[in-house]
Amino acid sequence: MAKTIRKYLIAGNWKMNKTASEGAELVNEINLAVGKQSEVGVVVCPPFTALESCITALEDSNVQLGAQNMHPKQEGAYTGEVSAVMLRSLFCTYVILGHSERREYFKETDAFINEKVLAALESSLKPILCVGETLDQREAGETMSVVKTQLVDGLKGVTADAAENLVVAYEPVWAIGTGKTATPEMAQEVHKFIRDELGAILGNGAAAKVRILYGGSMKPENASELLDQPDIDGGLIGGASLKSKSFVELVEIARSK
Ligand code: PGA
Repeated sequence: MAKTIRKYLIAGNWKMNKTASEGAELVNEINLAVGKQSEVGVVVCPPFTALESCITALEDSNVQLGAQNMHPKQEGAYTGEVSAVMLRSLFCTYVILGHSERREYFKETDAFINEKVLAALESSLKPILCVGETLDQREAGETMSVVKTQLVDGLKGVTADAAENLVVAYEPVWAIGTGKTATPEMAQEVHKFIRDELGAILGNGAAAKVRILYGGSMKPENASELLDQPDIDGGLIGGASLKSKSFVELVEIARSK
């Protein structure tokens, strides 16, 4: 593996796509292709309604399951919400938190996302904390300060011993679903900054263990160069995770490193 202490992770964020049966069909194909290998971590994050059918299709597989969101409380009067305990009961291992679509459309704040990160870790779910700047913020030269705030506020109370279970995804908002990808150099610059900030928050030894994924129009055509960057440890894949062919190709590219 290219990164000696970190294993590549390829995670599919299906967003609001796939019914329970469509999801089972997709994971079945992924599982047949890459379910036995363990060199690269593979995670699929279906909508809540497809988690059960997907985990059933993934019995005895190395492909792991993640959710796309959760509420920080364990249970209670939170209509429409789902807790970490519920996700664990469906054998979820990961949970995406603070995705830019949740920040934008559902007005999630760093403080609320921080509550979720702490609750996820408490329940042994591995958070994939998403950070990233909008186009306006990039053009105003605010990329690093935006990302720093999202990290510092999102990770309040997180300690070094959580490093191995923590994943950060750098997703420039202007690259999500747009076909525009950050160049490998642009992405690496922010990934390195994130690793340095993680060092300030958790200590350098712990920061070296955190996997930092790139997300935003990652696909087989551009993945290899991105994954070659020293601080890019995998991808959070939206569009290209909805077809087994492209998703499996991404896993194979990571395996070839
Ligand atoms: P995309 O989405 O790959 O379709 O750009 C990535 C994401 O939003 O996680």
